[in-house]
Amino acid sequence: MTNASGVFSSTVDSLEGWLDAGLKALIVKTATYKPRKGYDYPNAAVFNEGVVQAMGLPNPGYKKVALFVKEIKIKHPDIFVIASFAASDKKELQKMITFLGKYADALEFNISCPHAEGLGSSVGYDFKLLGELCKAGKEYCEKPFGLKMPYYPTDKMLKSCIRASESADFYTIINSVGKAMVLGKKFGLSNRLGGLSGSAIKPLAIGQVYRTRGFTNKFIFGCGGIVDRNDVAEFLKAGANAIQLGSGINRYPTKKDFVNETKAGFNHILDDYFEKQGKEVWE
Ligand SMILES: Cc1cc2nc3c(=O)[nH]c(=O)nc-3n(C[C@H](O)[C@H](O)[C@H](O)COP(=O)(O)O)c2cc1C
Repeated sequence: MTNASGVFSSTVDSLEGWLDAGLKALIVKTATYKPRKGYDYPNAAVFNEGVVQAMGLPNPGYKKVALFVKEIKIKHPDIFVIASFAASDKKELQKMITFLGKYADALEFNISCPHAEGLGSSVGYDFKLLGELCKAGKEYCEKPFGLKMPYYPTDKMLKSCIRASESADFYTIINSVGKAMVLGKKFGLSNRLGGLSGSAIKPLAIGQVYRTRGFTNKFIFGCGGIVDRNDVAEFLKAGANAIQLGSGINRYPTKKDFVNETKAGFNHILDDYFEKQGKEVWE
């Protein structure tokens, strides 16, 4: 169980907050080759079913991010730290993997951010480029190497991603779903469009975990709309090996409350409610 990249993961302090709450593994905010300022405020809109946000991958660049991965590993050597990165250029990707890989225990390639032009889902939906980058990346990566997938609405797309990433050791399924919009005085984002996270995307995320499990035995982190123990049990039942905690934190007073509740999902027996629900709806 880890946090999800981008959610309280941009500083050593915020990551240590997850450790204090009981996590034993962490994922760091996605790093890019050059520093990025991100989009102006307002950049997130929270509503009942979730969050629409367009942060724009703000980060100080991979060299600085690697140094704070190093700091965490020195302070907490037993914690498994995953560095997330986004790239669309082979040479930049190899430099980032080499440097981040010196300190992190594993690397997560973000091919799914829906609102960073030329990065994220621009790579995840371009299977030729994805194949070239995964191949080049793995050559330079001595640590476990995974992909953070976007939502793929068709199996053809999902299989293309899996084929293009033969070298991947794990998948994280899924990132926020673009291109979402919320309107109104309280809500408008400076970027207008953003990625949808939270309960609203949980059925898509669980569906994609289930579909992916049908095509591969690789390790899967389920992510998307996890709020409570029942959500965790659903992801595990659909085929995930582990889970990542994201915007569900908005529903809890503290990270500890969120972690304690969701941790219980690993021993939580789901009612066989799928069959029940099917009968209620279709009979
Ligand atoms: C404020 C915010 C920032 C995010 N930043 C990143 C990021 O930098 N890298 C990434 O891979 N995903 C990022 N995400 C996506 C989350 O990691 C996660 O995949 C998504 O929110 C779905 O999970 P959830 O519904 O549990 O929040 C971000 C999400 C939010 C809400």
